[in-house]
Amino acid sequence: MSAQFPQTRLRRLRRTSALRDLMRETTLRPEHLIYPVFVEEGADDFLPIEGMPGQYRIPEKKLAEEARRLSALGLKSIMPFGISHHKDASGSDALKADGLVARMVRTIKEAAPEMVVIPDICFCEYTDHGHCGIMHGDTVDNDRTIENLGRQAVIAAEAGADVIAPSAAMDGQIAAIRSALDTSGLADIPIMAYSTKLASALYGPFREAAGTELKGDRKTYQMDPMNRREALHESLLDEAEGADMLMVKPALAYLDVLSDIRRNSLLPLAAYQVSGEYAMIKFAAQHGVIDEAAVVRETLGSIRRAGADLILTYFAAQLLEEGI
Ligand code: PBG
Ligand code: ZN
Repeated sequence: MSAQFPQTRLRRLRRTSALRDLMRETTLRPEHLIYPVFVEEGADDFLPIEGMPGQYRIPEKKLAEEARRLSALGLKSIMPFGISHHKDASGSDALKADGLVARMVRTIKEAAPEMVVIPDICFCEYTDHGHCGIMHGDTVDNDRTIENLGRQAVIAAEAGADVIAPSAAMDGQIAAIRSALDTSGLADIPIMAYSTKLASALYGPFREAAGTELKGDRKTYQMDPMNRREALHESLLDEAEGADMLMVKPALAYLDVLSDIRRNSLLPLAAYQVSGEYAMIKFAAQHGVIDEAAVVRETLGSIRRAGADLILTYFAAQLLEEGI
């Protein structure tokens, strides 16, 4: 701190919009955005998702067309989630070379080869009980599940996935997936770890969108939202296990965590603005109490400012349509 008032007047650099543009420290550009989409097998038409105004379940048969449309909009990266009609106790569809995970990846890569495809790797969309892995009693069997996560990662990578994004929140999943990929000749495929994933109440609309209602909760495998030290520990463990990129999910309620990880790791860092965050903005805007365009840019900007290189957001397509 050098000069004080009246010499120092920070308002001087805010005088015009052009000056403010020059002084802006944080930017939001198309290459920062990853668009999560829902793809339903066996469906004929786009189905609006009630809890997420503006988002749709994409019928699998129209996925190629939709991927081309998004690519033409300037979308650089997409994260497909499957809505399965073939659920069972272990989520076996996700382990098949012609299962929904593999088909979504292949379809998008064929339709829009330049788009970076990052499939979410988990089992909750493919299990009939809705948990993220194989059950043992009333909780998930960690060690059998990470073995299956490795198999699913290999299936997705063989189908053409550019990056693998495991979201099951199992201990040791990054090491298990890295070793499965490496022993299958897929050593060049990177892992974006959902490295700090909270047992959040903000995933509600997603569970309706993806058709993954579950009895109980995920508090034995996803982290307690009240723990800041553990949040950093989780991400640093994934880095040590070989993650290529880290992620915090949800985003806005965890900017302190994002900032902690940014200061303690050199890896690229992503943040996931989840379904509940999207819904809060959409419904408040529909009621006329906030300016949607401004709030979207302010919240995503704050996530970038706190340290995220990349943001997974359901606003991605809308932002590109609006020229960001
Ligand atoms: C699956 C998964 C979830 C989300 C992303 N991957 C649901 C969950 O963990 O319960 C949530 C995304 C969102 O709310 O937008 N493991
Ligand atoms: Zn899951």
